Amino acid sequence: MTDQYERSAEFVDVMLAPAWTALDPVLAEALRGAPGPVVDVGAGGGHGTRVIARAIPQAEVFAVEPSPGLRAVLLARVNEDPELRDRVTVLPSDLLQATLPPRVGTLVAMNVIGHFDPAERRTIWQLLAERLLPGGRAVLNLQPPAEPITVPHTQFSELRIGRRRYEGWGRAEPAGPEQVTWHMTYRAFQDGEPAGEVDVEYAWWVLGSEGLKAELAEHGLHVSPTGPADLGLWHITRSPE
Ligand SMILES: C[S@@+](CC[C@H](N)C(=O)[O-])C[C@H]1O[C@@H](n2cnc3c(N)ncnc32)[C@H](O)[C@@H]1O
Repeated sequence: MTDQYERSAEFVDVMLAPAWTALDPVLAEALRGAPGPVVDVGAGGGHGTRVIARAIPQAEVFAVEPSPGLRAVLLARVNEDPELRDRVTVLPSDLLQATLPPRVGTLVAMNVIGHFDPAERRTIWQLLAERLLPGGRAVLNLQPPAEPITVPHTQFSELRIGRRRYEGWGRAEPAGPEQVTWHMTYRAFQDGEPAGEVDVEYAWWVLGSEGLKAELAEHGLHVSPTGPADLGLWHITRSPE
């Protein structure tokens, strides 16, 4: 599997931090009372892993992360917190190749579902239908666009660390009936002067709420929105709640 984050891993975790300020309490609430073990799909640098461990005390967490660069951030974050170090296992693998526990209490997939093509998504829904424990759930978010449209060049993140200021920019263009290509630009400035730029692109499978509902219904799964609509979080169970 190609690592689509090979050149951007340096920037991705810090640039996702502001988004996690909003996601943190909403994910924590969506996970309240959820059972373990927990699978954190595409854990990245572990912003969500940290929320999961806090929201579901004592549960064992399997943080699946295929990108070596992001996994280095994740492993360091887990190692530095005794609470995480004790309960979080970092699996260096694609979700579909990962050795997961036979029964799963909770599956979390934040900012990642667009990395899976329609057939791979169905494998994930099948996994939920077969392996979710009674009372178990999945929580995921859908990120726009929901259709393969052009997204103009937009700045999505800015932060300052020491003398450097970092900017994250993205634009997308359609790449087929169900896919867009994201073009990301990460810029660094030092003392106001340009100090480096990294350009990367990756494929993203688009999925809207109606599509999600239809796919889950095919697997007998129930889905409902959770949290503020603009964050796009969904709560999935095997039986109606
Ligand atoms: C945008 S990042 C989100 C990281 C983290 N969930 C967060 O929100 O901070 C997407 C992550 O999904 C991972 N990923 C991509 N394809 C994957 C796959 N097939 N299985 C598991 N993880 C995958 C990437 O390596 C990356 O860490």
